[in-house]
Amino acid sequence: MKILLVGSGGREHALAWKLAQSPSCETLYCAPGNPGIESVATCVKIDAEDVEGLTAFAVANKIDLVVVGPEGPLVAGLASSIAAAGIPVFGPSTMAAQLEGSKAFMKDLCAKYGIPTAAYGRFTDFEKAAAFIETRTPPIVVKTDGLAAGKGVLICMTHKEAREAAQGMLSGQSFGKSGTEIIIEQFLDGEELSYFALADGKTVLPFGSAQDHKRAFDGDKGPNTGGMGAYSPAHMMNAELEDKILARIITPTVEAMAREGAPFTGVLFAGIMVVKGEPLLIEFNARFGDPECQTLMMRLQSDLVEILNAGARGHLAEIKDQVRWAPDIALCVVMAANGYPGTYVKNTPIQNLDEAAKARDAIIFHAGTARNEKGEIMSTGGRVLGITARGKTVEDARKGAYATADMIEWPEGFYRRDIGARAL
Ligand code: AMP
Ligand code: GLY
Repeated sequence: MKILLVGSGGREHALAWKLAQSPSCETLYCAPGNPGIESVATCVKIDAEDVEGLTAFAVANKIDLVVVGPEGPLVAGLASSIAAAGIPVFGPSTMAAQLEGSKAFMKDLCAKYGIPTAAYGRFTDFEKAAAFIETRTPPIVVKTDGLAAGKGVLICMTHKEAREAAQGMLSGQSFGKSGTEIIIEQFLDGEELSYFALADGKTVLPFGSAQDHKRAFDGDKGPNTGGMGAYSPAHMMNAELEDKILARIITPTVEAMAREGAPFTGVLFAGIMVVKGEPLLIEFNARFGDPECQTLMMRLQSDLVEILNAGARGHLAEIKDQVRWAPDIALCVVMAANGYPGTYVKNTPIQNLDEAAKARDAIIFHAGTARNEKGEIMSTGGRVLGITARGKTVEDARKGAYATADMIEWPEGFYRRDIGARAL
């Protein structure tokens, strides 16, 4: 098969690495890709959000399957455009991607179909938002309706803070258009995990769990980030909890989307808060998590091309029982540029990558890198590398990932030293 993967982050490097291992993968293109992805795919210089350009490329190159990594292109209509050109695509339609693209859509769907989530109100008017805030007990969670790269959620400890958050969002000052509608919701106090399921519009294929580390610094201190590390499976996960998540949240959502005329094809990534043993939905994403995906791909033992192709063609029921996972733990340590998630340094050289990759049993997934004229690897993004290792225990996986991370010479970067600590 000729496959086109869209995206350029660590998640896409992990997907490319796994897709390329499949005997059915004849040619793998990645647009736009990155220097890590180059080692397993042909990178094509088309922007991930260039819907027309990517559709034209897929048609011209007779692509058999398109896999879309990030949410931006999905919300912008890439999967719908590829499908309209008659090419199977793994990723939700524009309408189905609203599960991630609009928190108001997601919350209203939950309310309509009885899917457990935090109580909420949605607002476009500041006076009404402020009046609602007065009726709540802090902490109060204020969120942008639209995409905000994981930054559109503020947990406010006072009414005043919540009013200021609402004002900043609604005025367009803090998040532009993403924040001109907001959700104000109840704070859920529990432990968080990421749950993944694939869907083909009707069938649900459970696809594992992970735990992310969202804060920038050790001990869960510092600002929220896109994720500084992850491990899979989540240590809290057990068969009973998984059954509850599937029965109360995932399956009802896939059924609801079909009933609403927006069947969901792709990855349904649920952010779950477990409160006294009961799962509540925090948010949906319409894609794999990054860096959670890196850990899932390390553990997946089945053929990813077969799985995603079945998803894209509506045949998940046929392969559902054949998917196998390593019983191990996989753990990913993210190396980020100094300053991230604020303003960070760019274009700094990263050295000793080849030696680090050879020396240990960890995979170095590239997330924010580019080659300079001399062919050297430079940092370009906030999150730059994801060092991922497998082990029989969390401790083993940590040792593997950190041994490799410690060999990488990049003085302008930093990483947390405590990924997986909660599971020990
Ligand atoms: P989201 O972008 O919706 O995943 O929110 C980012 C982070 O904010 C989540 O991963 C949670 O840690 C936190 N969060 C969001 N909503 C709530 C809530 N209702 N209660 C507690 N924490 C929340
Ligand atoms: N790591 C969280 C996310 O991908 O949204």
